[in-house]
Amino acid sequence: MGKRKALIAGNWKMHNTVIEGCHLAADISRLCSDLTDRDVMVFPPATILSEVCHIVKDGPIVVGCQNVCWEDRGAFTGEISPVMVKDAGGRAALAGHSERRQIFGETDALINKRLKGGLFFGLQMILCIGETLAEREDGRTFAILEEQLRKGLDGVSAADMAQVVIAYEPVWAIGTGKTASKEQAQEAHAFIRGILEQIFEKNIAEQTRIVYGGSVKPTNVDELMAQADIDGALVGGAALDAKSFGRIINFK
Ligand code: 13P
Repeated sequence: MGKRKALIAGNWKMHNTVIEGCHLAADISRLCSDLTDRDVMVFPPATILSEVCHIVKDGPIVVGCQNVCWEDRGAFTGEISPVMVKDAGGRAALAGHSERRQIFGETDALINKRLKGGLFFGLQMILCIGETLAEREDGRTFAILEEQLRKGLDGVSAADMAQVVIAYEPVWAIGTGKTASKEQAQEAHAFIRGILEQIFEKNIAEQTRIVYGGSVKPTNVDELMAQADIDGALVGGAALDAKSFGRIINFK
């Protein structure tokens, strides 16, 4: 089977006011107007989800939320429901970003609830997994990836997997300028695909997109995208600048 359709996603994290986000969205939208062979997503802060959705609505860009609750409404202070994401025009969400795990203490069990909740209400979900530097140096990379993947996907059906993307984001490569080498990234992606085959079946493993995140830049995207099991990129810092994100989208 050939490679899966590429996905380039920009995670804006806690950046951009209304004006800044609208300008960035408009610039990215112009760059993507005639793209058909690759998918593009952006994940703005929730405060500007609606504005960004409005700006890109006539183009191919899918907009998503950086995190999502599992309930549609209720007493969940500080949370955003999948129904609210859809109401604002969003169609996707992240779950399990390492900053949620590391800074806000989110567990695999919580992340699993978020993932299933988002899927239940019809969002495309990107499940983020990745080892810390200490875990890599201890030789525990694969054990951590397997645990995060199995617990994160617990109770997710094979049919649901059509709406799931896995993002491999080694924590030590996020925001550090230190990218995993193409060999390290490919090795992890191939491992993840192998676990997906064990959890589901070969077809599902072959069809699921596994994107890489961690200091993806215009200068390294081409060699990463040339790897057999790397189907795209989840981009942080370089997604805040339309020119560099545009170059990443147009990887060769
Ligand atoms: P950087 O591209 O800034 O390293 O961030 C990666 C990331 O966390 C995307 O979700």
